[in-house]
Amino acid sequence: MNLYRKLLALVAVAATTSLLLSVTVYGDDDDHEDRHDWFSQSRLDVAPVKNPAYQEECGSCHFAYQPGWLPERSWRKLMGDLENHFGDNAELEAEAQKSILDYLVNSAADNSNYKRSKRITGSLKQDEVPLRISDTVYFKRKHHEIPARYIKDNMEVGSYSNCAACHTRAESGSFGEHEVNIPGVGRWDD
Ligand code: HEC
Ligand code: HEC
Repeated sequence: MNLYRKLLALVAVAATTSLLLSVTVYGDDDDHEDRHDWFSQSRLDVAPVKNPAYQEECGSCHFAYQPGWLPERSWRKLMGDLENHFGDNAELEAEAQKSILDYLVNSAADNSNYKRSKRITGSLKQDEVPLRISDTVYFKRKHHEIPARYIKDNMEVGSYSNCAACHTRAESGSFGEHEVNIPGVGRWDD
């Protein structure tokens, strides 16, 4: 073989290997998730927040939830009544309200290709409009093994809305169970 052919052969082997690997990696079902997906950024669960206005306005009272956790219809409803926001007033100036809503809609779960966004979307009924991520079936299924005393009775957590208290890489969009560290309890090991 001349050098050119050798190179071609090498490329072919490399391509086949990565194809095989990615098949194993992507062919996961919910309970056997393989998170070692080095071939693309889809190892992230949801797209990270990249909107400074959103981060600032909606991240001041709590974790700035990635838009990919809820469908468009949820964000529209939530943004339509910020005055009555879970017992708080989170009203915004009209301009900020509009630009943040645009951002949320564009990056909503049903408009995203990230793994968990697709699963959340798939788990919801058409007419379901959850206002909380923590109210979705998908979320409940993922958290049902956690005792209440780790959450409500835990001063450092308080409620499920406090994603970043337990998920150490929440900010970056990564929520793997191996990255969980519950304050006062420790690493999650099930
Ligand atoms: C003035 C404080 C405040 C601001 C500002 C605020 N929120 Fe909230 N938000 C709350 C409170 C309080 C809760 C309920 C938390 C709990 O139950 O522990 C909440 C809950 C939520 C939840 C549900 C979380 C869950 O449990 O799944 C979402 C989604 C949410 N907020 C989105 C937003 C968005 C989008 C904005 C920006 C437009 C925003 N919030 C701004 C106070 C605020
Ligand atoms: C009290 C701590 C705690 C809080 C708060 C919390 N989680 Fe979790 N989460 C966990 C634990 C523990 C697991 C692993 C559960 C298991 O494997 O049985 C988990 C699992 C998950 C998973 C599945 C991970 C996997 O590898 O399958 C996702 C997705 C997730 N959480 C998202 C969220 C989001 C989004 C929020 C906020 C709205 C949140 N969590 C709030 C503790 C928490």
